[in-house]
Amino acid sequence: MTGKECFTMGVIIVVLLCPADGVLIDITPYKNLVTLIHNFFRTHEGAADMKMMQWDDQLQLRAAEWSQGCYWGHQNIGYGENLAYFYSSSGNMSSIDVIINSCQSWWNETFEWNWSTDCGVACHYTQMIWASTDKIGCALSHCPTLKTDATSIINAMFFVCFYNPPGNYVGSYPYTKGKNCEQCGMNSKCSAGLCVSIQQ
Ligand SMILES: *[C@@H]1O[C@H](CO)[C@@H](O)[C@H](O)[C@H]1NC(C)=O
Ligand SMILES: *[C@@H]1O[C@H](CO)[C@@H](O)[C@H](O)[C@H]1NC(C)=O
Ligand SMILES: *[C@@H]1O[C@H](CO)[C@@H](O)[C@H](O)[C@H]1NC(C)=O
Repeated sequence: MTGKECFTMGVIIVVLLCPADGVLIDITPYKNLVTLIHNFFRTHEGAADMKMMQWDDQLQLRAAEWSQGCYWGHQNIGYGENLAYFYSSSGNMSSIDVIINSCQSWWNETFEWNWSTDCGVACHYTQMIWASTDKIGCALSHCPTLKTDATSIINAMFFVCFYNPPGNYVGSYPYTKGKNCEQCGMNSKCSAGLCVSIQQ
């Protein structure tokens, strides 16, 4: 079975039958960095109802499966998805550089977006700062070949973040503008300018 056939057969079969091409890289030391970067941007949006984003191991597992598949595309299984890759012929970019550059490039779309109910060309950014999204899990794989629909990228570092609940609903704004935590709602407390659910 060729890789291409696998990918036309569907997500479940890809995961179960097709050997993963990618080499998963352990980013455990950088989990906090990922949430820190996201929460830094979230706290500075001027949002009244922005939830704190927390790492989710289940999302990390799903992101790991997807990044190891080395396919440049969205999985579309109900999560928000931010993807990025970097490639080089002269050695691999370090994990920390991939993570920081990915988050930077996603957030940088802020300059191409005006407050709107349509994420337009800034959907990575709006997912990062979507108020109700409070879980994130990411994974990094080294892909000898990263397949795209048109071509292949050799020697790519492929970074995948999954978000839950997903954002980017057309017709909705990412958050309610206002003073931090002003609208956290019931059963929430304010921590570092972000809303955190109080466990029942
Ligand atoms: C890049 O990383 C992969 C996976 O860890 C490894 O197999 C490969 O040898 C590395 N390539 C270079 C040029 O260091
Ligand atoms: C961010 O976006 C600005 C404006 O579009 C651009 O000039 C700059 O090069 C970008 N920076 C990065 C790191 O992508
Ligand atoms: C955002 O809105 C301002 C003011 O209307 C306009 O000058 C700017 O070009 C817009 N930017 C984008 C990326 O649409």
